[in-house]
Amino acid sequence: MPVTPAASLLILGIESSCDETGVALVRSTGQGVPVLRSHALHSQIDMHQAYGGVVPELASRDHIRRVLPLTQTVLAQAGAALDEIDVVAYTRGPGLAGALLVGAGVACALGAALERPVLGVHHLEGHLLSPFLSADPPQFPFVALLVSGGHTQLMRVDGVGRYEMLGETIDDAAGEAFDKSAKLLGLGYPGGPALSRLAAQGNAQAYKLPRPLLHSGNLDFSFAGLKTAVMMQARKLGPALDVPDSALKADLAASTEAAIVEVLVKKSLAALELCGLDRLVVAGGVGANRTLRAELNQSCARRGVRVHYPELALCTDNGAMIAMAAAMRLQAGMQEASRVYAFDVKPRWPLDQIGAA
Ligand code: KG4
Ligand code: ZN
Repeated sequence: MPVTPAASLLILGIESSCDETGVALVRSTGQGVPVLRSHALHSQIDMHQAYGGVVPELASRDHIRRVLPLTQTVLAQAGAALDEIDVVAYTRGPGLAGALLVGAGVACALGAALERPVLGVHHLEGHLLSPFLSADPPQFPFVALLVSGGHTQLMRVDGVGRYEMLGETIDDAAGEAFDKSAKLLGLGYPGGPALSRLAAQGNAQAYKLPRPLLHSGNLDFSFAGLKTAVMMQARKLGPALDVPDSALKADLAASTEAAIVEVLVKKSLAALELCGLDRLVVAGGVGANRTLRAELNQSCARRGVRVHYPELALCTDNGAMIAMAAAMRLQAGMQEASRVYAFDVKPRWPLDQIGAA
């Protein structure tokens, strides 16, 4: 069966690039926004928590355990049979090599067994297009703020596969700044949500922390210096941070969050102005941050800019965004699904080198 952009297709998406196994079914009808039929997720957070971060080998082994039961779950939820799947999509990169190989291997094995084509998806493109899974999807063109654990990028997006990089981090990503600061404050893994929860009880003006590259005149970011400033401040406060329910710790968490959020908001507004656009899409795990959402909503409302987010549950890694990206690429004629089941993965894969394949 040839895979033509106009065909109605049931697409299975498999995400396994890091510490969540995500599987989903998306229905593409060849026109309009493809529709999410079902999705299921297993988070490895509990397993990695004891180690203070992701242990790649454990991640790979857990993906192997989870991926087929999750596939059965999404089929049952959608009331679909295995042989109704038309295309099997998987995350090809970037991510942890072993973890990616599990998703790619299972996807290609399923494709070969069902005699259906497969399609490797760029994980960041999945995040970027994840707001199309929401009830109120954006329209092209828009500026995208992509804020995940490993990436902080501003892009002009004119359509599927038409991405122009406007600026990105020159060192740590925003998610890393959250995670590393949380670690310094003894908040464990994953740090972003934990730091954000504590910050809600603190005073964001308590400590003056740097806003790196805020006035650099370009759209690049730098968060490594902020982490160092948090470390110096934590050292200065010493044992006062270790008392139970330390108000000082909540203040430092709130000040850290405020510094990260201010830079992300101001640079996003500058990007919108540079492009002359009035639509912003925020995607990636840090997009779940409530302070970031509140500040962006307020600043954008003042300027008549519409902001689109993925549903909260689809901000962090999931299979729905992978199935959606595959559906949108097929529908836009950007890529064809392949019946070659020999696979590779791309642990490092810049989004601007996504190419046609
Ligand atoms: O997109 P994602 O799930 O995985 C990557 O592709 O990296 O993003 C994970 C990142 C982590 O750094 C995590 O701490 C951060 O997103 N994150 C948050 C929040 N939820 C997740 N950071 C701040 N506030 C949150 N609520
Ligand atoms: Zn991600």
